[in-house]
Amino acid sequence: MPGNTIKVFGDKLESQALQKGCEEDIEKHCRRCIGKPTMRTLNKLRKYGIYVLFFMLLFAMVFQFSADLRQPAYPVFKMAETNGTNRMIIVVTPTYKRMTRIPDMLRMANTLSHVKDLHWIVVEDGNRTIPAVEEILKRSNLPYTYMAHKTAVGYPRRGWYQRTMALKFIRSNTSQILGKEHEEGVVYFGDDDNSYDIRLFTEYIRNVKTLGIWAVGLVGGTVVEAPKVIDGKVNAFNVKWNPKRRFAVDMAGFAVNLKVVLNSDAVFGTSCKRGGGAPETCLLEDMGLEREDIEPFGHEKEKDREIFVWHTKTSTPNIAQAKKNANSTKPAPPPETYGYFVEV
Ligand code: UGA
Ligand code: MN
Repeated sequence: MPGNTIKVFGDKLESQALQKGCEEDIEKHCRRCIGKPTMRTLNKLRKYGIYVLFFMLLFAMVFQFSADLRQPAYPVFKMAETNGTNRMIIVVTPTYKRMTRIPDMLRMANTLSHVKDLHWIVVEDGNRTIPAVEEILKRSNLPYTYMAHKTAVGYPRRGWYQRTMALKFIRSNTSQILGKEHEEGVVYFGDDDNSYDIRLFTEYIRNVKTLGIWAVGLVGGTVVEAPKVIDGKVNAFNVKWNPKRRFAVDMAGFAVNLKVVLNSDAVFGTSCKRGGGAPETCLLEDMGLEREDIEPFGHEKEKDREIFVWHTKTSTPNIAQAKKNANSTKPAPPPETYGYFVEV
């Protein structure tokens, strides 16, 4: 049954067989004419198959490795966090209407949205909340509280009253802020115009057991203010301005564990003489804290220590229209916004 054999080996081999003079009895000759090349092909397959497998394996490994590299940098920090504590970070931000506020808040929202287990309390220094700010908060996907408290008479217009209202809110809404998954929290006062490294939250603030203090860049009339750490303890501060304060630290340079906040009724007053006008040391002293309570962060390296928060200030843009009328007695007409929302 020559036809059957031909079918088994396929058309190409059939024609090979025919070419090699196997016409009379294809079934008989097919082993001689076709069998050998088939065996050779099989042997080749056996021989090179191992290379094919090896290259497939190599490709899979390279693909997997490059997939790791393709991951954006920040989720790596997030993953590192899962090994640590799940303390809720409570960030308190006073904010007020000015031309640069929307972009400032936008940058801050973009940073904070990389941090999990973070509740953002934003306090508007005004009579009402602003929809454009609320939109930024919504889009951040963070749990947040946005409330309005216009600076009360007697308080400096520097966010002190707003932080006081936030502390009161935290004390009377603790379980709502913490949710079911968190037993502990840390409170941080993050102003709307600073520049924050995500690691400030994931590596420093999250780990504050009582009072964490770290370096702040571009603050206090110098390039960096930092706690002076000797044998892991802080008994002085590397600062230029008012170094005698019990806590010579900018608002951006510390965080307190929630239990410290809840165990006291300290708030920001209308002034702080001990701070030479700056409110930080008064608040921390009123919370019953001492220098021995300080847990310093980020001092471990001998050199090239990294700064995780910068006391930047967004400059007010030079608006031609407003400038032109600066010497005029008439109020300047508002700049043209072409239907776009700008806080002018
Ligand atoms: C510095 C410190 O970094 C602040 O933490 C501190 O509160 C302030 O000094 C002070 O003198 O008490 P600085 O950059 O000079 O801050 O001040 P701003 O950033 O202009 O204001 C601090 C915060 O308060 C900001 O979040 C700002 O939006 C808010 N603020 C300011 C108001 O809510 N209302 C105002 O009228 C002014
Ligand atoms: Mn500022």
